[in-house]
Amino acid sequence: MCRPDYFAVEYAINPWMDPEAGADREVAIRQWEGLKSAYEELGHRVSLIDPVEGLPDMVFAANGALVVGGRVYGARFTHRERAAEGPAYLKWFTDNGYDRVHEAAFTNEGEGDFLTLDHVVLAGTGFRTDITAHKEAQEFLGRPVVTLQLVDPRFYHLDTALFPLNGHNVAYFPGAFSAGSQEVLESLFPDAVIADEDDATVLGLNAVSDGTRVVINAEAANLQLELKRHGFEVIPVELSELRKAGGGPKCCTLEIRG
Ligand code: ARG
Repeated sequence: MCRPDYFAVEYAINPWMDPEAGADREVAIRQWEGLKSAYEELGHRVSLIDPVEGLPDMVFAANGALVVGGRVYGARFTHRERAAEGPAYLKWFTDNGYDRVHEAAFTNEGEGDFLTLDHVVLAGTGFRTDITAHKEAQEFLGRPVVTLQLVDPRFYHLDTALFPLNGHNVAYFPGAFSAGSQEVLESLFPDAVIADEDDATVLGLNAVSDGTRVVINAEAANLQLELKRHGFEVIPVELSELRKAGGGPKCCTLEIRG
Protein backbone atom coordinates (compact mmCIF):
# COMPACT_ATOMS: atom_id res chain seq x y z
CA MET A 1 0.00 0.00 0.00
CA CYS A 2 1.05 3.64 -0.42
CA ARG A 3 0.06 6.27 2.15
CA PRO A 4 -1.78 9.13 0.41
CA ASP A 5 0.64 11.79 1.71
CA TYR A 6 0.55 13.59 -1.63
CA PHE A 7 -2.99 12.65 -2.62
CA ALA A 8 -4.99 15.27 -4.52
CA VAL A 9 -7.47 15.53 -7.35
CA GLU A 10 -5.66 17.98 -9.59
CA TYR A 11 -6.21 16.48 -13.05
CA ALA A 12 -9.05 14.43 -14.52
CA ILE A 13 -8.26 11.10 -16.18
CA ASN A 14 -11.55 9.38 -15.35
CA PRO A 15 -15.15 10.61 -14.93
CA TRP A 16 -14.99 10.49 -11.12
CA MET A 17 -12.30 13.18 -10.92
CA ASP A 18 -13.24 16.85 -10.64
CA PRO A 19 -10.18 19.07 -10.09
CA GLU A 20 -12.43 22.05 -9.28
CA ALA A 21 -14.00 20.15 -6.38
CA GLY A 22 -10.67 18.61 -5.36
CA ALA A 23 -10.37 16.32 -2.33
CA ASP A 24 -9.41 16.59 1.33
CA ARG A 25 -6.04 14.94 1.85
CA GLU A 26 -6.36 14.72 5.65
CA VAL A 27 -9.65 12.86 5.34
CA ALA A 28 -8.16 10.61 2.66
CA ILE A 29 -5.24 9.72 4.94
CA ARG A 30 -7.57 8.94 7.85
CA GLN A 31 -9.76 6.73 5.67
CA TRP A 32 -6.73 4.99 4.16
CA GLU A 33 -5.40 4.28 7.69
CA GLY A 34 -8.75 2.64 8.40
CA LEU A 35 -8.33 0.35 5.40
CA LYS A 36 -4.80 -0.57 6.43
CA SER A 37 -5.97 -1.38 9.98
CA ALA A 38 -8.79 -3.50 8.59
CA TYR A 39 -6.26 -5.66 6.73
CA GLU A 40 -4.01 -5.92 9.77
CA GLU A 41 -6.92 -6.91 12.00
CA LEU A 42 -7.71 -9.66 9.50
CA GLY A 43 -4.13 -10.88 9.89
CA HIS A 44 -2.85 -9.77 6.50
CA ARG A 45 0.66 -8.41 6.23
CA VAL A 46 0.82 -4.90 4.79
CA SER A 47 4.02 -3.63 3.14
CA LEU A 48 4.40 0.03 2.29
CA ILE A 49 6.01 1.86 -0.60
CA ASP A 50 7.20 5.44 -0.05
CA PRO A 51 4.84 7.94 -1.67
CA VAL A 52 6.43 10.30 -4.19
CA GLU A 53 5.66 14.01 -4.24
CA GLY A 54 3.99 15.04 -7.49
CA LEU A 55 2.29 11.65 -7.96
CA PRO A 56 -1.15 12.26 -6.38
CA ASP A 57 -2.60 8.94 -7.62
CA MET A 58 0.25 6.80 -6.29
CA VAL A 59 -2.01 5.76 -3.37
CA PHE A 60 -3.68 3.46 -5.91
CA ALA A 61 -1.12 0.71 -5.49
CA ALA A 62 -3.16 -1.86 -7.43
CA ASN A 63 -2.06 -0.13 -10.61
CA GLY A 64 1.63 -0.48 -9.81
CA ALA A 65 2.17 -4.06 -11.02
CA LEU A 66 0.68 -7.54 -11.33
CA VAL A 67 2.27 -10.21 -9.16
CA VAL A 68 1.47 -13.88 -9.77
CA GLY A 69 3.53 -16.81 -8.48
CA GLY A 70 6.21 -14.37 -7.36
CA ARG A 71 6.63 -13.00 -10.91
CA VAL A 72 6.26 -9.26 -11.19
CA TYR A 73 4.77 -7.86 -14.39
CA GLY A 74 5.42 -4.12 -14.35
CA ALA A 75 2.89 -1.41 -15.15
CA ARG A 76 3.13 1.03 -18.04
CA PHE A 77 0.58 3.80 -17.52
CA THR A 78 -1.80 5.23 -20.12
CA HIS A 79 -1.56 8.84 -18.91
CA ARG A 80 1.67 10.79 -18.58
CA GLU A 81 0.44 12.12 -15.19
CA ARG A 82 0.99 8.64 -13.72
CA ALA A 83 3.86 7.43 -15.91
CA ALA A 84 6.53 7.73 -13.20
CA GLU A 85 4.62 5.35 -10.92
CA GLY A 86 5.55 2.33 -13.08
CA PRO A 87 9.32 2.51 -12.45
CA ALA A 88 8.74 3.50 -8.79
CA TYR A 89 6.73 0.35 -8.10
CA LEU A 90 9.12 -1.84 -10.09
CA LYS A 91 12.00 -0.49 -8.02
CA TRP A 92 10.16 -1.41 -4.82
CA PHE A 93 10.00 -5.00 -6.01
CA THR A 94 13.65 -5.25 -7.04
CA ASP A 95 14.70 -3.54 -3.77
CA ASN A 96 12.67 -6.11 -1.88
CA GLY A 97 14.31 -9.13 -3.45
CA TYR A 98 11.96 -10.01 -6.30
CA ASP A 99 14.15 -11.16 -9.15
CA ARG A 100 11.58 -12.32 -11.68
CA VAL A 101 10.55 -8.90 -12.87
CA HIS A 102 9.30 -7.97 -16.34
CA GLU A 103 9.33 -4.40 -17.59
CA ALA A 104 6.23 -4.26 -19.80
CA ALA A 105 6.49 -3.24 -23.45
CA PHE A 106 2.76 -2.57 -23.65
CA THR A 107 0.40 -0.23 -21.83
CA ASN A 108 -1.13 -1.82 -18.75
CA GLU A 109 -2.24 -0.64 -15.32
CA GLY A 110 -1.35 -3.66 -13.21
CA GLU A 111 -4.00 -5.12 -10.96
CA GLY A 112 -6.37 -2.37 -11.94
CA ASP A 113 -6.98 -4.39 -15.10
CA PHE A 114 -5.62 -7.85 -14.20
CA LEU A 115 -7.40 -9.98 -11.60
CA THR A 116 -6.00 -13.36 -10.63
CA LEU A 117 -7.97 -16.54 -9.96
CA ASP A 118 -6.64 -20.10 -9.50
CA HIS A 119 -6.62 -21.10 -13.16
CA VAL A 120 -7.03 -17.90 -15.05
CA VAL A 121 -6.16 -14.21 -15.00
CA LEU A 122 -9.04 -11.94 -16.04
CA ALA A 123 -7.91 -8.88 -17.97
CA GLY A 124 -9.80 -5.70 -18.80
CA THR A 125 -9.32 -3.52 -21.84
CA GLY A 126 -11.16 -0.60 -23.42
CA PHE A 127 -9.97 2.41 -21.44
CA ARG A 128 -6.49 1.79 -20.06
CA THR A 129 -4.75 -1.54 -20.53
CA ASP A 130 -3.97 -2.45 -24.14
CA ILE A 131 -4.97 -5.90 -25.33
CA THR A 132 -1.37 -6.54 -26.44
CA ALA A 133 -0.41 -6.41 -22.74
CA HIS A 134 -2.83 -9.30 -22.10
CA LYS A 135 -0.71 -11.48 -24.43
CA GLU A 136 2.51 -10.18 -22.91
CA ALA A 137 1.32 -10.97 -19.37
CA GLN A 138 0.16 -14.45 -20.39
CA GLU A 139 3.55 -15.23 -21.89
CA PHE A 140 5.50 -13.89 -18.89
CA LEU A 141 3.28 -15.44 -16.21
CA GLY A 142 2.52 -18.72 -17.96
CA ARG A 143 -1.12 -18.38 -16.96
CA PRO A 144 -4.11 -18.17 -19.31
CA VAL A 145 -5.32 -14.59 -19.61
CA VAL A 146 -8.95 -13.97 -20.58
CA THR A 147 -9.73 -10.64 -22.22
CA LEU A 148 -12.84 -8.75 -21.08
CA GLN A 149 -14.06 -5.64 -22.89
CA LEU A 150 -15.07 -2.69 -20.70
CA VAL A 151 -17.64 -0.32 -22.24
CA ASP A 152 -18.73 2.19 -19.56
CA PRO A 153 -16.22 5.01 -18.83
CA ARG A 154 -17.26 5.08 -15.14
CA PHE A 155 -15.81 1.57 -14.93
CA TYR A 156 -12.52 2.28 -16.65
CA HIS A 157 -10.53 -0.43 -14.88
CA LEU A 158 -11.61 -4.06 -14.53
CA ASP A 159 -11.33 -3.79 -10.75
CA THR A 160 -14.09 -1.15 -10.69
CA ALA A 161 -16.58 -3.66 -12.11
CA LEU A 162 -15.50 -7.11 -10.90
CA PHE A 163 -13.68 -8.77 -8.02
CA PRO A 164 -12.63 -12.36 -7.35
CA LEU A 165 -14.53 -13.84 -4.39
CA ASN A 166 -12.02 -16.69 -4.15
CA GLY A 167 -9.90 -18.69 -6.58
CA HIS A 168 -12.83 -19.77 -8.71
CA ASN A 169 -15.73 -17.33 -8.50
CA VAL A 170 -16.33 -13.60 -8.93
CA ALA A 171 -18.80 -10.79 -8.25
CA TYR A 172 -19.45 -8.28 -11.05
CA PHE A 173 -21.68 -5.62 -12.59
CA PRO A 174 -22.71 -6.88 -16.05
CA GLY A 175 -23.45 -3.39 -17.41
CA ALA A 176 -19.75 -2.52 -17.39
CA PHE A 177 -18.98 -5.18 -20.02
CA SER A 178 -19.64 -5.66 -23.74
CA ALA A 179 -22.31 -8.22 -24.72
CA GLY A 180 -19.66 -10.76 -25.71
CA SER A 181 -17.73 -10.35 -22.48
CA GLN A 182 -20.94 -10.72 -20.47
CA GLU A 183 -21.43 -14.08 -22.18
CA VAL A 184 -17.84 -15.07 -21.38
CA LEU A 185 -18.41 -14.20 -17.71
CA GLU A 186 -21.70 -16.13 -17.63
CA SER A 187 -20.04 -19.23 -19.03
CA LEU A 188 -16.95 -19.06 -16.80
CA PHE A 189 -18.85 -18.13 -13.63
CA PRO A 190 -22.42 -19.48 -13.66
CA ASP A 191 -22.61 -18.99 -9.86
CA ALA A 192 -21.24 -15.43 -9.80
CA VAL A 193 -22.65 -12.81 -7.44
CA ILE A 194 -24.30 -10.18 -9.65
CA ALA A 195 -24.15 -6.59 -8.44
CA ASP A 196 -26.62 -3.86 -9.36
CA GLU A 197 -25.86 -0.39 -10.68
CA ASP A 198 -26.29 1.26 -7.26
CA ASP A 199 -23.56 -0.95 -5.83
CA ALA A 200 -21.34 -0.37 -8.84
CA THR A 201 -21.67 3.43 -8.73
CA VAL A 202 -20.36 3.57 -5.15
CA LEU A 203 -17.45 1.40 -6.36
CA GLY A 204 -18.79 -1.55 -4.37
CA LEU A 205 -17.06 -3.92 -6.77
CA ASN A 206 -13.70 -2.40 -5.98
CA ALA A 207 -13.46 -4.88 -3.11
CA VAL A 208 -10.82 -7.26 -1.77
CA SER A 209 -11.71 -10.81 -0.77
CA ASP A 210 -9.32 -13.28 0.86
CA GLY A 211 -11.68 -16.14 0.04
CA THR A 212 -13.98 -15.79 3.03
CA ARG A 213 -13.82 -12.15 4.13
CA VAL A 214 -14.58 -9.20 1.87
CA VAL A 215 -13.31 -5.68 2.50
CA ILE A 216 -15.80 -3.44 0.70
CA ASN A 217 -16.98 0.16 0.47
CA ALA A 218 -19.51 0.82 3.24
CA GLU A 219 -22.09 2.34 0.87
CA ALA A 220 -22.52 -0.83 -1.20
CA ALA A 221 -25.49 -2.01 0.87
CA ASN A 222 -27.21 -4.45 -1.51
CA LEU A 223 -23.99 -6.14 -2.46
CA GLN A 224 -23.04 -6.60 1.20
CA LEU A 225 -26.35 -8.36 1.86
CA GLU A 226 -25.87 -10.54 -1.20
CA LEU A 227 -22.34 -11.48 -0.12
CA LYS A 228 -23.55 -12.40 3.37
CA ARG A 229 -26.26 -14.54 1.79
CA HIS A 230 -23.48 -16.38 -0.03
CA GLY A 231 -21.66 -17.04 3.26
CA PHE A 232 -19.00 -14.32 3.12
CA GLU A 233 -18.00 -12.19 6.06
CA VAL A 234 -18.23 -8.51 5.14
CA ILE A 235 -15.88 -5.79 6.42
CA PRO A 236 -17.22 -2.36 5.38
CA VAL A 237 -14.75 0.50 5.06
CA GLU A 238 -15.25 4.21 4.43
CA LEU A 239 -13.17 5.50 1.51
CA SER A 240 -15.37 8.27 0.15
CA GLU A 241 -12.50 10.76 -0.22
CA LEU A 242 -10.47 8.41 -2.39
CA ARG A 243 -13.56 7.77 -4.51
CA LYS A 244 -13.24 11.39 -5.63
CA ALA A 245 -10.24 10.17 -7.63
CA GLY A 246 -12.15 7.10 -8.81
CA GLY A 247 -10.64 4.65 -6.33
CA GLY A 248 -11.78 2.26 -3.59
CA PRO A 249 -10.32 -0.46 -1.35
CA LYS A 250 -8.96 -2.62 -4.17
CA CYS A 251 -7.37 0.33 -5.97
CA CYS A 252 -5.39 1.05 -2.78
CA THR A 253 -4.19 -2.54 -2.60
CA LEU A 254 -1.59 -4.41 -4.64
CA GLU A 255 -1.96 -8.08 -3.73
CA ILE A 256 1.42 -9.77 -3.70
CA ARG A 257 0.94 -13.42 -4.66
CA GLY A 258 3.94 -15.57 -3.79
N1 ARG B 1 -7.27 8.43 -10.42
C1 ARG B 1 -6.76 7.11 -10.69
C2 ARG B 1 -6.76 6.86 -12.19
O1 ARG B 1 -7.69 7.27 -12.84
C3 ARG B 1 -7.58 6.09 -9.97
C4 ARG B 1 -7.02 4.71 -10.10
C5 ARG B 1 -7.87 3.69 -9.41
N2 ARG B 1 -7.25 2.44 -9.38
C6 ARG B 1 -7.83 1.28 -9.73
N3 ARG B 1 -7.17 0.18 -9.53
N4 ARG B 1 -9.01 1.23 -10.28
O2 ARG B 1 -5.86 6.27 -12.73
